[in-house]
Amino acid sequence: MYPYNRYRRLRSSEAIRSLVSENALSVNDFIVPLFIVEGENIKEEINSMPNYYRYSLDLVEEEVKEIWSLGLKSVLLFVKADENKKDNLGTEALNPDGLMQRAIKTIKKAVPEILVMTDVALDPFSSVGHDGIVKNGEIVNDETAEVLAEMALSHAQAGADFVAPSDMMDGRILKMRTKLEQEGFYNTGIMSYSAKYASAFYGPFRDALDSAPVNVKDVPKDKKTYQMNPANRKEAISETLADIEEGADIVMVKPGLCYLDIVRDLANTIDVPIAVYQVSGEYAMLKAAAEKGWLDHDAVMLEQLTAIKRAGASLIASYFAKDVAKLLKP
Ligand code: PBG
Repeated sequence: MYPYNRYRRLRSSEAIRSLVSENALSVNDFIVPLFIVEGENIKEEINSMPNYYRYSLDLVEEEVKEIWSLGLKSVLLFVKADENKKDNLGTEALNPDGLMQRAIKTIKKAVPEILVMTDVALDPFSSVGHDGIVKNGEIVNDETAEVLAEMALSHAQAGADFVAPSDMMDGRILKMRTKLEQEGFYNTGIMSYSAKYASAFYGPFRDALDSAPVNVKDVPKDKKTYQMNPANRKEAISETLADIEEGADIVMVKPGLCYLDIVRDLANTIDVPIAVYQVSGEYAMLKAAAEKGWLDHDAVMLEQLTAIKRAGASLIASYFAKDVAKLLKP
């Protein structure tokens, strides 16, 4: 009771504030998303993601070396498939010599200790821009999950440490885990996008990979039949518990900031590590406001990421990872 309790005592200097700080960001928290394209000597900036790039394989080597030298220990790979390689079945996703499979090998060779995580979903390889196979206007669940399990296996065979299914089909974790076990990849981890919302914040990412749903007849225009309704909270717990039961090692909430109540619900409910994906739209918003001089870039970035951690995330996939690592460097 006041005046015996004065909360400002614990805020009165930087030293005491840091001593009683409940959370702190560290380079150990971050996963760096990487966009990869075919070709050589390519480092092209993504239009709606200032200072974020797509790399060809020759240049990605240097990039992962830099990432590693900053103390960051894991990357999450996305590839931009050539348009002529795309079809409704996402066939190219299973090509043992496909861009993803080559990227995994290239990165593992450049920095053997780095943890390589790979995106598993059909959208970059889909001629219609969906995470699954489309039949009669429907994204078919079980058939898609079979392909995704093959895709996960293919990534594991190429050397991926973790596969990260971002598709939201029902039962895909069980199919993947079973396949990996059967083929002897029992050490391959699964980081499941378990509570992934049908969010408008993914726009810049779809620009980066040219992977948005196409606007043609009999193809759903959005991903609302598989990604979650932003209005729902309890459903996130059921989805996540199901993924853990099916064999996920790490679960994920996505996007970040608008969904921190979900992160906290899960942190209070489950014991496995929770990842948060701070998505492309969140990155773009801050970059745009900072460019206009309306927000202090670094201060807002650190505040947002700290909030994600405080909510209960043990790891964060973020396009700001390198910026933060540079700031945190002693
Ligand atoms: C697709 C995928 C998306 C993201 C990661 N994997 C986009 C989508 O679901 O349409 C979004 C990441 C971001 O916006 O940063 N499987």
